[in-house]
Amino acid sequence: MRSLFEEQLEAEQLATVSHFEGIEDAFAEAHTYVPAASEFALGPDEYLDQLLSIREAVDLPIIASLNGVDGGYWLQYAQLIAEAGADALELNVFDIETDPDISGAQIEERLLQMVHRLRSQLRIPIAIKLSPFYAAFLNLAAAIRDEGADGLVIFNRFFQADLDIEELEVERQLRLSTPNELPLRLRWLAILSGKLDGLSLAVTGGIHTPEDAIKALMCGADTVQVVSALMVQGPAALADIRQGIVDWLEEHDYDSLDQLRGSMNVARCPDPSIYERANYIHLLHSFRRA
Ligand SMILES: Cc1cc2nc3c(=O)[nH]c(=O)nc-3n(C[C@H](O)[C@H](O)[C@H](O)COP(=O)(O)O)c2cc1C
Repeated sequence: MRSLFEEQLEAEQLATVSHFEGIEDAFAEAHTYVPAASEFALGPDEYLDQLLSIREAVDLPIIASLNGVDGGYWLQYAQLIAEAGADALELNVFDIETDPDISGAQIEERLLQMVHRLRSQLRIPIAIKLSPFYAAFLNLAAAIRDEGADGLVIFNRFFQADLDIEELEVERQLRLSTPNELPLRLRWLAILSGKLDGLSLAVTGGIHTPEDAIKALMCGADTVQVVSALMVQGPAALADIRQGIVDWLEEHDYDSLDQLRGSMNVARCPDPSIYERANYIHLLHSFRRA
């Protein structure tokens, strides 16, 4: 039997699909951007069941995850997740606004209202997973903190749509990350951790090796998240990254992770302007053809 939540979720997805309907004549496959509830590997009830079984099986902190765009019914699911034993909640704001009448300020306001509602519902820590595509990222980060969020997860990695030009279909493809995605995150970790207090920072996107993790920690990450490397190498990747960090700290005479954390952020690195300026003139002069 379908739960009330599933019915609501489907209704919200249908509402999203109908948003695309106006352009359907011009682009018949537009609705393929939106996954149906049945396409998720775990429905909401199975997700809660899995959370409960993980809670029973391991003695580790569990961070549950919700994806959303606005303050719809699905936010109430956060409470069920907390009751099922999650130690913290990560809200992934998967927001690709396609309405020309919606301004950046409205998008930010919508996001802040979600954080406000979550904070008023939950006692557990809340982290907000964002994309980098906000005009004044630091200002928004401060506002998210002031609404009561405990941390940021940077950055969301949107799955890009691709086209099959023979079949005229929009394809959704799962592309795993590479370390090339890390520098964007390093820049913003360094800026956030150097200029803003009161938010715990997690990095997601491009962590494949101990060196990647060390760079993120130096720029100010409190934690690193790893997915693509796990998909390729299996769970052993975690132990390898962890051991690599321990070895590196010992070789370089660090006493603790805290000594490493933020040591290269904008407040502490020798030349912070490298993070803050898009100084490509210098880069162009230094280019040499291979
Ligand atoms: C198979 C797969 C499933 C994912 N599912 C989710 C998800 O349900 N919610 C979410 O916020 N991110 C999800 N992500 C994104 C990851 O959490 C992560 O942010 C992204 O893969 C970048 O990290 P990586 O470079 O370590 O892969 C998924 C990624 C992959 C590869």
